[in-house]
Amino acid sequence: MCGIVGYFGKRPAQDFLLEGLKRLEYRGYDSAGVAVLQNKIANRKNKKDEILIRTVKSVGKVSELEKKLNGKIEGVIGIAHTRWATHGKPSEKNAHPHTDCGGRVAVVHNGIIENYRELKDVLEKRGHRFRSETDTEVIAHLLEVAMEKLPFEEAFVKTLKQLKGAYGIVAISAKDPGVMLAARLSSPLVLGIGSGEMFIASDVSAMMGDVKRVVYLDDGEITVIGNDGYVVKTFSHRKREKEELALERDKTVAEHRGYPHFMLKEIFEQPKSFADALRGRLLPDDGMARLGGLRTVAKRLRSIDRIIIVSCGTSYHSALTGEYMLEEYAGIPTEVEMASEFRYRKPLLDKKTAVIAISQSGETADTLAAIREAKEKGALTIGIVNVVGSTIARATDVGVYCHAGPEISVASTKAFTSQLAILSLLTLYLGRQRGLSLVMGQRIVRELARIPKHMERVLAQAKDIRKLAKKYAKQEHYLYLGRKYNFPSALEGALKIKEIAYVPAQGYPTGEMKHGPIALIDPSVVSVMVMPRDSVYEKNMSGMEEILARGGKVLAIATDGDAAIVRKATDVIFIPKTLEMLSPLLAVLPLQLFAYYVAVERGYDIDKPRNLAKSVTVE
Ligand code: F6R
Repeated sequence: MCGIVGYFGKRPAQDFLLEGLKRLEYRGYDSAGVAVLQNKIANRKNKKDEILIRTVKSVGKVSELEKKLNGKIEGVIGIAHTRWATHGKPSEKNAHPHTDCGGRVAVVHNGIIENYRELKDVLEKRGHRFRSETDTEVIAHLLEVAMEKLPFEEAFVKTLKQLKGAYGIVAISAKDPGVMLAARLSSPLVLGIGSGEMFIASDVSAMMGDVKRVVYLDDGEITVIGNDGYVVKTFSHRKREKEELALERDKTVAEHRGYPHFMLKEIFEQPKSFADALRGRLLPDDGMARLGGLRTVAKRLRSIDRIIIVSCGTSYHSALTGEYMLEEYAGIPTEVEMASEFRYRKPLLDKKTAVIAISQSGETADTLAAIREAKEKGALTIGIVNVVGSTIARATDVGVYCHAGPEISVASTKAFTSQLAILSLLTLYLGRQRGLSLVMGQRIVRELARIPKHMERVLAQAKDIRKLAKKYAKQEHYLYLGRKYNFPSALEGALKIKEIAYVPAQGYPTGEMKHGPIALIDPSVVSVMVMPRDSVYEKNMSGMEEILARGGKVLAIATDGDAAIVRKATDVIFIPKTLEMLSPLLAVLPLQLFAYYVAVERGYDIDKPRNLAKSVTVE
C-alpha cells in the first residue's frame, strides 16, 4: 500500500526521504516521488530570493527515482511517497507529491478521498488546472484556495473539513516554509523524534535506525512540525498531550541476512518466532496460559458466551483454525467473519460477546472498521496483533501481541504461525476456566513447547520440497484440500501459491469435493491434500481414493511414517506427529515452502508480488 515519509531538519532531506521510501518498498507500490522545499533561489523576474518546491517523480522502483534525482535536490524539508494506484493508472503524473496550480503547496496522501469528484468539479469551474487523475490532487488545490485568505495551518484544517473518506496527509508550502503539517483519519501516520530533526511516516519501519522515540497520531489529529519540534492538535485546534514511545533500534531486521528473499527468511524464522510468541506464557504445571494483556478483563471474560473473530486474508485463515480450537477445547460458540463483510452486515452483538481482531499489521482498514463497530455495540474487543502500537492494537480494549518480529515479505508466513500460537494460548486460558481438564491442559502445553523442534524438522526438508516444486512448476491449476483443523491450512496453501506464483488454486474442504469440485479432476489437476493422522484421516483417505480413481494427482502432507499414503499418493511430504489442534502449525510450512519454490521456478519477484500491498489501509 502507499507509503509516506517526511523529513524536517538540518540534513539534506533527500537522504532520509529515499532511505525511508526504500524501507517501505516491501509494502508494494508502482511509482514514487519527492518534493523538497528548496532554499532561497534567485528569481530572475522580480530579482528577489524565493523559496520553491522542487518535485521529482518516476514510475517503477525507488532506485529509478534515485537515478532521476541524481543527488541534485538540495533542501532540508521534504515529503515523499510510494504510490499504489487506486484512482488513475500508475504513471508519473499520477505519482505523488501533488501540487497546486502555482506549485506553492505539495501534498502526499494515503487513503481515499470519496468526494473528490464533486470537489474537483467545483475547483475546475473556478479555473484550477488538474494535472493528474488522482483523488489526492484536490487536496493541493483546496489548500491553494484556502491559503488565499488564511495562514497555512488554518487553511489545512479548513481543507480537511471538506474531505470525506480516509487519509494520512502530509503537506508543505513555499508560502510558509517554517512548518510541515500532517493529519490522520483512518490511515496511519507516526511521528519520529530525532535530535534537532523530525520525521514522519505511514509506517514506523521507515524510520527504524533514525529515531529513538515515536508518537502515533490518532484519528482526527493534526501535527504541526517546526523548528521547535512538534505539537499535536485536534481538528478544532485543541492541543493534545501525546505519549512518546521508545523505538527499538534494529536496522538488521530489514535485511535478508543471507536469504534470497524476505519470504524465505521469514519461513525459516518460524521456530524462533513461534517460541517467542509462547515465551513466558506457558504454565506447564497448571496446564494453563498466562496472558498479561487480558488481566484487566479477566472477570468479564468469564461471562462471555460467544466469540466472533474478524480478520482478512492469512489472518482470516488462522482465525478459522482458532474457531475449531476454541469450540472443541474452550467450549465457547465461535464464529469467524471476513472483516470486509462483517462491517456491512448488521451484526447482533452485546456485552457478552467478545470480538477478536487478528491482524499482523494492525492497520488493515476492514478489520479496524469491524472492531470499531463491535466496540460501539458494547462487545468486548480483543486484539491479536503483531505490530506493537499499531492502530488495531490501540483501538481494541485489550490484546495479546504475537511477538513475531517485523514481517517484511508481502506474503504472510510467520505471522500465521504466531497467530496460531496466541489462539492456542487463548484456548488454554479460556478452556481451563470452562472445564478443560488439567491433564488435557498439561498435554497441550507440552505439545506447544515441542512445536519449534518439530518445525525445524519440517524446514530441513526444504531441498526435497524444492525438487517437488520443480516437478510441478508448470502446473496451471491446483486444488488444496483438507478437513477440520486443516481445512484452513488448505485455504492458506492455496492463497500462498496464488499470491506469489500467480497459479490459480482453490482451497476446499475435502468433504465438499463430491458436491461439485470433483468434476474438475482429470490427469492434469494436482490436489495438494493436507491429511495428517487425525480424527478425519480415514475421511481424507476416501477423498484421496476418489481423486486418484479419476486420474488426478495427489501431493499429500502426511504424518511421519504413514506407509499407506506413500503407497497411494503421487508424492508425499512428511510432518512430525503432534496434537490434532496443533497440526496446522506444521502442515502450513511445506505449503509455504512449496509456493515459494514454485514462484522461484516461475521467475517471479517474490517479495513484491504484483498488485499486492503489505498492509491494506484502504477499503
Ligand atoms: C497474505 C497476506 C494478506 C494479509 C491480509 C491481512 O499473505 O499477507 O492476506 O494476511 O491483508 O493483513 P493483516 O494481518 O495485516 O490484517
